[in-house]
Amino acid sequence: MFDFTQFWHAIGHQLSRPSGIRGRLLGHVMAYVNEQPNREAIQSLDIGPSDIILELGFGPGRAIETLVSKTPHGKVFGIDPSEEMVAQASRTNRRWIDSGRVRLMQGYFNVLPWQSGTIDKILAVNVVYFFHESGAELREARRLLKPGGEMAIYATDKSSMSQWKFAGPETHLLFDRDGLTSLIIRGGFGVDEFFIREIAFAYGVIGLIATLRKRSSAFEFADGKGSASHPSRENDDLSSGCH
Ligand SMILES: C[S@@+](CC[C@H](N)C(=O)[O-])C[C@H]1O[C@@H](n2cnc3c(N)ncnc32)[C@H](O)[C@@H]1O
Repeated sequence: MFDFTQFWHAIGHQLSRPSGIRGRLLGHVMAYVNEQPNREAIQSLDIGPSDIILELGFGPGRAIETLVSKTPHGKVFGIDPSEEMVAQASRTNRRWIDSGRVRLMQGYFNVLPWQSGTIDKILAVNVVYFFHESGAELREARRLLKPGGEMAIYATDKSSMSQWKFAGPETHLLFDRDGLTSLIIRGGFGVDEFFIREIAFAYGVIGLIATLRKRSSAFEFADGKGSASHPSRENDDLSSGCH
């Protein structure tokens, strides 16, 4: 008999790290079904033409194309551990990679290889499910943001996600507004540095968009509440592992 539990678990696992032929197919599906959340999240950022943007978990790389079109004098970086997604996103954005406006890296968002305070905007769509409950990835993201820099996080609300069998606890952390608020605070953002709004999609699906803005204060505490700056990374050479 067909094992549905195994099947849904495999889909959940593929979403967290697409690989092989299944990952490639899933990439095409994501490019289609995640179009609206990506559009909404990008719209929530006040992107300027010279901005340096980073996308966490870019998957098939469709949002990268949009970000490039909004930053004619800027640069777009991306990081994702999936070899398959790096290849797919690189094919989609080949022209921009070749011209030096896009750099895609294979790696993980808990250790981001960029110097502190160098990124204007960060996009994180459908990836917060794979963050650690400690908020470690958000601390890293906050470290990279320039003062006044912004981040947009999209997550489908727990009320919708919990009905989708692929989003089991073995692969996904689920968030409602309160859960996402707590994670962002654990990630070092002050309560005055973000807001969350709900979006209603077709079929009653509820999405959450968190827009975060790192305060411009000259004093930045290591705990995210306000003093000493983070040590900057020694190695900011983006050439290794980039496509
Ligand atoms: C559900 S897909 C979303 C892709 C894309 N953001 C979108 O909206 O279509 C999640 C992506 O996050 C990536 N991912 C999972 N864990 C990651 C990690 N620790 N660091 C960086 N990316 C990760 C996966 O490889 C996958 O491409």
